[in-house]
Amino acid sequence: MKECVIVDGVRTPNGRAHKDKGWFRNKRPDELMTAVYTALFERNKQVRPEDVEAVFVGTAAQVGMQNDIGRLAWLAGGFPESVATNTICQQCPSGMAAVEHAARAIMCGEGDIYIAGGVEDMLHVPMGYAMDFPPRLSERYSMADIPMGATAEKVAQLYNISREDMDNMAFYSNKKAAAARDQGKFNNEIVPVEGEQEDGTKFTVDRDQWIRDNVSMEAMATIKSPFKEDGVVTAATSSPLTQGACALILMSREKADELGCQYHLKYKGGVMAGCDPTVMGIGPIYAVKRLLERTCVGVDQIDVVEINEAFASQSLACLRELGLEKNAPFEKTNLWGGALALGHPLGESGARIIITLNNIMKTERPNARFGLATLCGGFGNGNASLWERVN
Ligand SMILES: CC(C)(COP(=O)(O)OP(=O)(O)OC[C@H]1O[C@@H](n2cnc3c(N)ncnc32)[C@H](O)[C@@H]1OP(=O)(O)O)[C@@H](O)C(=O)NCCC(=O)NCCS
Repeated sequence: MKECVIVDGVRTPNGRAHKDKGWFRNKRPDELMTAVYTALFERNKQVRPEDVEAVFVGTAAQVGMQNDIGRLAWLAGGFPESVATNTICQQCPSGMAAVEHAARAIMCGEGDIYIAGGVEDMLHVPMGYAMDFPPRLSERYSMADIPMGATAEKVAQLYNISREDMDNMAFYSNKKAAAARDQGKFNNEIVPVEGEQEDGTKFTVDRDQWIRDNVSMEAMATIKSPFKEDGVVTAATSSPLTQGACALILMSREKADELGCQYHLKYKGGVMAGCDPTVMGIGPIYAVKRLLERTCVGVDQIDVVEINEAFASQSLACLRELGLEKNAPFEKTNLWGGALALGHPLGESGARIIITLNNIMKTERPNARFGLATLCGGFGNGNASLWERVN
């Protein structure tokens, strides 16, 4: 089998999905997606759009402005009609599924150059928009247990995750994200995009909007759960509603060498695992266990972890059950912060964490061998992918 390497990865800054305050409130998700497609080709002149075998794009809600967004953003951006696109839905892991589709196609020899990424605009296409659940589902599950916040509360209870540990995770997520931003660590992945301040002034957005600079344990302790009477999951320990897009160039190693492209990581493997949708947040436990078994890599060999912080409760439960880490601040997990601070544009995040993992392993942990990226998804989907340093 061929080897698949990451040649480049970029993302838009994450904007707040708010109709009055969001910096990208007047941007459409296809515009954000086109911005990352464009940036990839501008940064990698040796890669011609017409030489791309196919484009895979993840999005959690393929409806309205996000209907077949991978294709429509490609065409609207002026890219060649001859290149096929495939918009993929696996709820939050959609972007990771897109990357895995490309990696597997490369390894099987179906093609040498792929674009993969994800996009979500939770302002214009709100979570659950136009959702029509099969009535029969209620014969199997209590529908009150299916919404994301309810699952996060249930996981906190089942895995005994304390409110204090969740607040602590949110605190460090924001601190680490702010430090990474201030030290310019996101500069290699963020593509500046024009946005608007609250008063309508246009400006070039080059940083994530959600990061809270004045986060404090005392203030967080006062917030009530919006999900459950006397619940423990709050706005601070939930990923906020976000707009954002990202994309990577994935290539066979031979092609990357032929074109003179630099790379640091290769795809070692990926696993999608299903679980009970009422505790969807623990999906990574199943996916990561199976992934490590199949790739014969031990938990202690994982040097860097990116786990999507959909909720503090579920990410802490996963990290603990997998024996990766116990409590924030972590030693190898989400070193530049996570979704609690950066935001979580659903179908984008699975690809975004791979981009960040790649950048962390290139710069901050250059000797790290294995990097793990994993996330949960609504209705019980876990996804995990393992990446290995090649040089
Ligand atoms: C949790 C959620 C409902 C909160 O939405 P919201 O009420 O619009 O959120 P806000 O950001 O306005 O926060 C609510 C309050 O908490 C406060 N708050 C939030 N995070 C805080 C923090 N870290 N520290 C201090 N205060 C904080 C806000 O300031 C706000 O208080 P205010 O109204 O007095 O200003 C929403 O973010 C959500 O649904 N998240 C989950 C998304 C999801 O399910 N994704 C899929 C995962 S699988």
